[in-house]
Parts: sequence; structure tokens; C-alpha cells
Amino acid sequence: MSTLVVLGTQWGDEGKGKVVHYIANQADYIVRFQGGNNAGHTLIYKDKPFVLHLIPSGILFPKKYCLIANGVVVDPIALKDEIAMLDDNGIAVKDRLFVSQQAHIILPYHKFIDSILEEGNVKIGTTKRGIGPCYCDKVKRIGIRLIDYLEKDVFEDLLEENLKEKNSILKNNGVNVKTLKKGILKDRNKLLKFITPFVADTSLMIENAIRNNKNILFESAQGSLLDLDFGTYPFVTSSNPIAGGVCSGVGIGPTKIASVLGVVKAYVTRVGEGPFASELFDKMGEFLREKGGEYGATTGRPRRCGWFDAVVVRHSVRVSDIKRLVLTKLDCMEDIERIKICVAYKYKGKIYKEFPVSRTVQKYAKPVYEEFPGFKGKVKGVTDFKKLPINAQKYVKRLECLVGAPIDLVSLGRKREETIEVNGSVKWF
Ligand code: IMO
Ligand code: MG
Repeated sequence: MSTLVVLGTQWGDEGKGKVVHYIANQADYIVRFQGGNNAGHTLIYKDKPFVLHLIPSGILFPKKYCLIANGVVVDPIALKDEIAMLDDNGIAVKDRLFVSQQAHIILPYHKFIDSILEEGNVKIGTTKRGIGPCYCDKVKRIGIRLIDYLEKDVFEDLLEENLKEKNSILKNNGVNVKTLKKGILKDRNKLLKFITPFVADTSLMIENAIRNNKNILFESAQGSLLDLDFGTYPFVTSSNPIAGGVCSGVGIGPTKIASVLGVVKAYVTRVGEGPFASELFDKMGEFLREKGGEYGATTGRPRRCGWFDAVVVRHSVRVSDIKRLVLTKLDCMEDIERIKICVAYKYKGKIYKEFPVSRTVQKYAKPVYEEFPGFKGKVKGVTDFKKLPINAQKYVKRLECLVGAPIDLVSLGRKREETIEVNGSVKWF
């Protein structure tokens, strides 16, 4: 038996979908432990692109078990749509996709409130999928879990209470609460039969899988800098995509986690608001956006782009005890004349080598850069690390050294073949 956690080390969109898909053939179970359908994981299977938001990226392999654990917030309609999309593409999920009965559900009012709050004073730039408001209800102890959704009387009582609690914000923003309630009850009637077979005690399933020596991959959504505790608060998501989130998000003890793998993009992107020291507002930023196709897989928003930030990734390596890394999108940097890496921040004359907690420092700190010559040669299509242009090899080695973890895999495209195993073939479990 072994377990592996796969995490994003920046602000999301590092290429976790491809990486999980790459490793999933060695896994028996692939488990999502936090977030919801705010994620957008793009992968290529049989030459076709797939974007998954809620279902683990291992689902495209037949026979793999995919679990959506208790730490995830689940929009029942989004779940149904995603299952239907897979079904339309000939991917059957019955008897191998399971959703925790303890997962909290996202209802239409969570999405309304998400949008309403975005119009207020503190703009986070959320995906407006209702993620934050749903986690808020969970913490307020008024949330509705999937198990509650299945029990008619329990659900109706809880819905009534919830709508009462949210009555003023909804009414003040032009929502007809009665019609809203009717719609939710109607949706439930339609969804119930469909959803029931997928609902399970996923914590127990994982416990049994561990006992039976299965390989389990825990897949994060979002990146470590969007972590509620260790990210750029308040410009974060509402859950813990760091390794610590796995234990509470699926119901296992920390000693059951064997290894942690971080996914890191060769430059940085971010969607939504919040600090981003190495952001580029010039032609280079535009170049990276176009070359990397940096548009949100969930919302379609253009992503903000910037140079690699070693302070950010070193921070992520530390808080999750990441032991190995996968570097993605190195191919997107092949035509750049001079490359920069942010190695520290400077604010009011002070140098910060560790990621600062202060909002002021995060917002106003200037990046301290190291400069490198461009790769001067083709990167795309290379399958052997030693055949990469020497400057590209040096760039990778410098990143390893700065962030404090080895890079085992370099990804040069979305396809499985477009991957270099730096130190030979890797046993992930
Ligand atoms: P993957 O899994 C990039 C960002 C949003 C916003 C903040 C809070 O593809 O890496 P939320 O809707 O979660 O309350 O929004 O988090 N965000 C992501 N950015 N990739 C994601 O997922 C994201 N999920 C949330 O843009 O800034
Ligand atoms: Mg995304």
C-alpha cells in the first residue's frame, strides 16, 4: 500500500490534471479532498481534451476508483452534468465513482450570494460557483450534507432554516425566495434517483483500501497560495489545498500519508484578485498568456502571468513537506531572450527570503530577480532531459536549488508522451 498527495504549489492551474492523469495508471484510487467545481483540470485522453471540475482526473482510466471525499463541496447539478459529459464520451463511472455522504452541498443561493459578495467592497475574483458561501455554512454549522439531501424531511427543514437565515440578502438583491425554494425542491426530486447510488462512506472506503494494500492518490484542487491559512489571505479559496487538508478532507491520520508531490509551472499565473509580486504587465506577460493558452478552464478569464517566483514555491514546499516536483509548461518559455526568476522580495529596504504574511508587504513588495539567458533551442518534443538545450537544463536545476525539492518530471505539453522523466522511470507509490 502507498499513498501520494498531488498538490499545486502556486495559485492553481499548474497542470495538476495532466500530472494526476499521468500517474493515475499506477493508482487504484484517486481521491479529491477539498474545493469543489471551482477547479478546472484539463487533460488529453485518446487525443481528446477533457475539462474536469469536480470529478478526480483519474476517471478517464477505466477500472480506477474515484472518490469525492467529505472535504469537497458538491453542487449536485454540476455533478450530474459532469457525469453526463463523461457518459457522452463513452466513459462509464457507475460503481467506481463515489461521493462522501458528509460532503456539503452547494445550492443555487450559494451561487447567488457568491456573486452578490463579489459586487461588494472586498472583491476576491471568485469563480462564482458558490464555494465560499457553502463552506461558510459548514463552519456556521448550518450546512447541508449529501446525507441530509437524501432524507426528505431533514432536507426540507434545513432548507427552510437556511432560506430564513439568508432571506434579507437574497430579497435585497431581487431574488424571489419562494420561487427559489420551489426550484430547489424540484431539482431534488429530479436528481435524487440519479445521485443516490453514488453516495457512500468514502472515509471507510479509503480505510479499507489502505488495509488492502491499494495505491491511493489524493488530488488537490487550487494551489497552495490559495490556501485559506497559508495563502494570500483574503485572496484565497475557502479550503485547504495543502497536504494538511488531506487528513481532515478524507478522514485519515497523517501517518497514512507516504509522500507529497508538488506541481509547479515554469512561470506563474493567477486568476482573480490578490498580490502577485512577479506579475508582468508588459509584452512578456502577454507572450506567456498566448503561448501558454492562459485562459481559465472554469471561467474563461485571462490569467495574470509573471516570472517564476521561488519565494512562493519554497513556501509551498515547506508547508506541505513536498519531497518531489513536476515542472510543467517549460516548452512555453522556449522563445524568450532573457528569463528572470524572482528569488526574494524587497519592501522598504528589507529583503524577504521567506513568503511574508503581512498584507502590506505581500501587496507592495518588489521582486528581486536573477537573470538567465534564454534557452536558445527547441524544447517542445524533447523526450530526454539531457537533450534539452543546456540553458533549459540549467534553468530547471536552478529552480530545484532555489525551492528545495528535486524535479522528477518535466512536462512539455498536455499529452502523456510530452513528458520527460528526469531521473529515469519513476515509481510513484
Ligand atoms: P485549479 O484546480 C485557479 C481562485 C479564484 C479566486 C479564488 C477564490 O484549476 O487550480 P473561489 O471560487 O474558490 O471562492 O475563488 O481562488 N481559484 C482558482 N484559480 N485555479 C483554480 O483551480 C481555482 N479555484 C479557485 O479565481 O481568486
Ligand atoms: Mg483552474
